Amino acid sequence: MIRIEDLHKSYKDHKVLIGLNIQVEKGEIYGFIGHNGVGKSTTMNILAGLIGFQSGKCIINGKDIRDNGLLFKDIGYLPEDPKFYPYMNAWEYFDFIGRIGGDTGKEIKLKAGKLLEAVKLEKAAKRAIGGYSRGMKQRLGFAVAMYHDPELYLLDEPSSALDPEGRIDMVNIIEDLKEKGKTIFLSTHILNDIEKVCDRVGIIHDGRIVVEDNLNKLLEKYVQPVYDIEFNRRPTGNCINKLSALEYVDKVDIDDRRVSVYIKSIERDSQKLLREVVELEAPVTSINLKRSSLEEIFMKVVK
Ligand SMILES: Nc1ncnc2c1ncn2[C@@H]1O[C@H](COP(=O)(O)OP(=O)(O)O)[C@@H](O)[C@H]1O
Ligand SMILES: [Mg+2]
Repeated sequence: MIRIEDLHKSYKDHKVLIGLNIQVEKGEIYGFIGHNGVGKSTTMNILAGLIGFQSGKCIINGKDIRDNGLLFKDIGYLPEDPKFYPYMNAWEYFDFIGRIGGDTGKEIKLKAGKLLEAVKLEKAAKRAIGGYSRGMKQRLGFAVAMYHDPELYLLDEPSSALDPEGRIDMVNIIEDLKEKGKTIFLSTHILNDIEKVCDRVGIIHDGRIVVEDNLNKLLEKYVQPVYDIEFNRRPTGNCINKLSALEYVDKVDIDDRRVSVYIKSIERDSQKLLREVVELEAPVTSINLKRSSLEEIFMKVVK
């Protein structure tokens, strides 16, 4: 669906993309992750056909974007900071873009009504957009991106202005789109719930993708599993020595009643460790596998 090959983009002598390569398959959700200022919006704007680039190739749906101007109906683009005519209300805005696309007033009402409901803006829809918060504009921008029911979505930091509830709504809508077989290329610098919907993630750093894979595979590869074990009293040195001596345990950290045990592999070593822990003389009150996140991978790869 998207093929970016050896893409180079500079603003004057400031090199932003230096040989970017990304491939996104049809029906896939791809998370494009990187620090602020690394070139995510630049890439999105290039794919949307809004800005040019120096060299390389961008193919969308088999078409080179330099040869064929894409129809605005082909792509649902949610910019990082979507702009609207502030004096229009949401209904009027849909009427505006619907008519540009050739829809009748009746069709527009029907489609816009459903979308406004999906992004929870029904109540605000008659108010001027100029008075919307950033989060509301982001919701409206997403609804507008969905208006023409495109096959491909470019979502630039889609959850950046949303509160936790808004982010959950966003994830749900993205999952619905995935179910309909849509392809989604989304960027983010805040690593949060959004990452979980991605089939694959790619980390951009210094102008190119430095790591790319399925999220679980990345976690396996880059993040060491840790069990946090809590005892009802500070464990004895004997307990700690027993844990440290296990051949599959790399490290044991102690913080009063809590102990973190770093093991080599979740699959291979979890059961063995749990059996050992039960046998210890100090009673255990809880044991949890520490939730590893993309954040840790990101830090490891980028730092
Ligand atoms: N129109 C522009 N003119 C000059 N420099 C720009 C322009 N747009 C972006 N940049 C610079 O390019 C770099 C990448 O920006 P951007 O793509 O917006 O990053 P991101 O979206 O990853 O935060 C930044 O250093 C930014 O300052
Ligand atoms: Mg950006």
